[in-house]
This record gives sequence, C-alpha cells and structure tokens, in this order.
Amino acid sequence: MIATRGSKLSLFREATKGSADRVWLATMQSNPSQTPATASIANNPELDAARDRLVFALDLDEPKAALELATRLAGELRWIKVATRLYTRAGSTLIAELRAMGFRVFLDLKFHDIPDQVHGACRAAGRLGVGLMTVHSVGGRAMLEAAARGAAEGAEQAGHPAPRVLAVTVLTSLDQSDLSDIGVQRPVDQQVLTLAKLTRDAGCGGVVASPKELSLLREALPPPFGILTPGIRPKGSAAGDQKRVMTPAQAVELGADWLVVGRPIRSAEDPVAATRAILAEMAGG
Ligand code: C5P
Repeated sequence: MIATRGSKLSLFREATKGSADRVWLATMQSNPSQTPATASIANNPELDAARDRLVFALDLDEPKAALELATRLAGELRWIKVATRLYTRAGSTLIAELRAMGFRVFLDLKFHDIPDQVHGACRAAGRLGVGLMTVHSVGGRAMLEAAARGAAEGAEQAGHPAPRVLAVTVLTSLDQSDLSDIGVQRPVDQQVLTLAKLTRDAGCGGVVASPKELSLLREALPPPFGILTPGIRPKGSAAGDQKRVMTPAQAVELGADWLVVGRPIRSAEDPVAATRAILAEMAGG
C-alpha cells in the first residue's frame, strides 16, 4: 500500500511538471525567506510531497487569533486557506501577512456572478499572489473562462505566478431533493461530473470535491486537472458536522491533489503535533 501511495505521489509530481504548482515551488525555492521547511522534511521526499498537498483551513473569526495560529504553524505547513468569514474581517492585509510568513494562500471566496464581475474579482485575487482560488461552476462557461483569464492577468500584472482557479461543482450541503428544488433532476454525481468537465473545458485548473466524488472525478479527469478535497479526518478524530469523511491516506490513494483540513488541526490540543501526524499519514507513515 505504501509503495502504491508513493508511486501515486510520483505520478502526481510528474503530471504537474510545469503547472502552477511547479512554478510556485520554483519561486519558493528561489526565495529562502518563503521556505520554512525543516531539515527532516527536506530529507524525506514523501513528507515533502505531503506538505505540498495539505491545506489548513484557517476558519477563525478574529484576525489576531488567526495570525497567532498561523504563526504557530508556519514552520509546519505550506498551504493555508482563507475563506469568506475571515476575509470579510481581515481583507487583503491578512493575505499579505500570511504570504510574508511563507504561506501559499488558498483564497476560498467562491465567486459567482456575471463574467465581467468574476473576471475583475479573480484579477484582484491574482494580484494578491494567492496560489489557489475558487468560483462556482454553475456560473457557466463564459464565467469560468473569465475567471481563469482574470486570475492569470492579475498575477501577471503584479509579477506573481498564475494561480489555479478551482470550481465548486455541487455544494456538499445539497442533496437530490435540494437539486430538484432548483430544477435539476439528474443524479448528484452526474451533475458533479458535468460541471467538472465544463470547468476543465473552460480552462480552470480543477474542482473542489467531496471524498465521495473523488474516484468518479479522477477517473474522468486525470491530472494535471486538480482535485481538492475537504471532509478529511485523520484516524480516530471526530467527524463534527462532516457527513462523508475520509482519512488523509485514503484521499491521497484516490487521487486528491490537495486535502483541506480545519478542525482536526485547529481544535487539537497541540496543532503542531496534529499537523505532523496528518502529514505522516498522507506520506504513508
Ligand atoms: O474543519 P473541517 O476540516 O471540517 O474544515 C473543512 C474546510 O473545508 C472548511 O473550511 C469548509 O468550509 C471547507 N469545505 C467543506 N466542504 C465543502 C467545501 C468546503 O468542508 N464541500
């Protein structure tokens, strides 16, 4: 099993050669102030690859508390996710601070509007130097194309590598009857697949998917199309309000490129130890 995971990681690294992640990595490596890697991780390729995939969800309301936690984790993690609740309080200043601490930022604001607005919003996010950002795929082809274009333009204007735009397909809070309420009669997984293919065809870099959708999506959409998965729970941790959970190792096995983890780290007595345990689990340790 460990060998399989290892080869999947190698395949992933191969498939993403030249992608935004590679460019990111090169940028980080050419700027030592942005690489908080510890010696032990630098000497362990599996752990190093795991660090490229683990995204910590900084879901706190208070900017000060958020920065304190980020500071504690800066030497452990490469990716951090800022979503609407914190961004609405702390804005782009927080993004700049997190980047200055060495984090790659996933700006999870899930834009959904007319193409011109989303183009402008993604261009603004691209200017911030974030590495990942989100939109809703139900905004349609023109909106998705505008998102990818805007993100690349903003990044170029500010001298950053182009970020990846990921699209949400069907929110995991919606079930079949919710879809029916909004006029969608087909099965949820078919809707997810249709929207994921549209996302790829429109030039976006990947999707956000529940653990349950991973196999279906990975089979139809091979790398370098990216898949980011929340609902991750290390062995023995509480699911909380997540209905469909998967362990870090299972998600890696099924082809997820990035795993989003919030409460198992944030609510842990020792967030650093919790992070290390998750990284070890992802690396097959
Ligand atoms: O605390 P927990 O690990 O459940 O956090 C998961 C993160 O992933 C949260 O930031 C949540 O908003 C996000 N997310 C999710 N389910 C989705 C999409 C995003 O849990 N379908």
